[in-house]
Amino acid sequence: MSDFYKKIIEGNKKWVETKINQDPQYFEKLSHGQSPPLLWIGCSDSRVPANEVIGAQPGEVFVHRNIANMVVHSDMNMLSVLDYAVNVLKVQHVIVCGHYGCGGVKAAMGNDSIGLIDNWIRHIKDGYRHHKTYLDSIIDEKERFDAFVELNVKEQVLDLAKTSIVQGAWRSGQDLNLHGWVYGLNSGIVKDLQVNLSSNKDLDTVYQLQF
Ligand code: CO
Repeated sequence: MSDFYKKIIEGNKKWVETKINQDPQYFEKLSHGQSPPLLWIGCSDSRVPANEVIGAQPGEVFVHRNIANMVVHSDMNMLSVLDYAVNVLKVQHVIVCGHYGCGGVKAAMGNDSIGLIDNWIRHIKDGYRHHKTYLDSIIDEKERFDAFVELNVKEQVLDLAKTSIVQGAWRSGQDLNLHGWVYGLNSGIVKDLQVNLSSNKDLDTVYQLQF
């Protein structure tokens, strides 16, 4: 067994001991059920652990992560998580959290083929094409990269709002707020992009569903 593998088994034991020392009923209480107020849709990047960066405890955040925090409307995994979070858990907030320096977004700005993942990255490229005039006008590559990371998050928030799941919840008067954040790998600080959606009136009319 590798040292790392041994370390994580030990890490789990220590974590359990710490939790039980603080509260002997800790796991017993958690086992009764969950009602997290937040769904987090983030990047798979190992440097952006959902709970940890917002100081949240087990039971407080329902999590979905994929490469470049995408909301792809044909992704059954994302739709199932969203449906469960909104319609069963009744979360009040959904945060799409991207991060500066995202490898998926970077790959989408370039032309190198990196295998099967090209097909996933293509969704991000669609966002670039949508904002091509603005993004191409940014000369500095780092600035353009940062701007694209932010725009990608905003697009995913809009894509959440376009789903029948989110619009259905709004239609029935559910308190459901969508937000877009970008996390700074080199600072630990999140930036709220102020794309706070709580009604389908914020969408282009062509996406507004009538129920
Ligand atoms: Co990333």
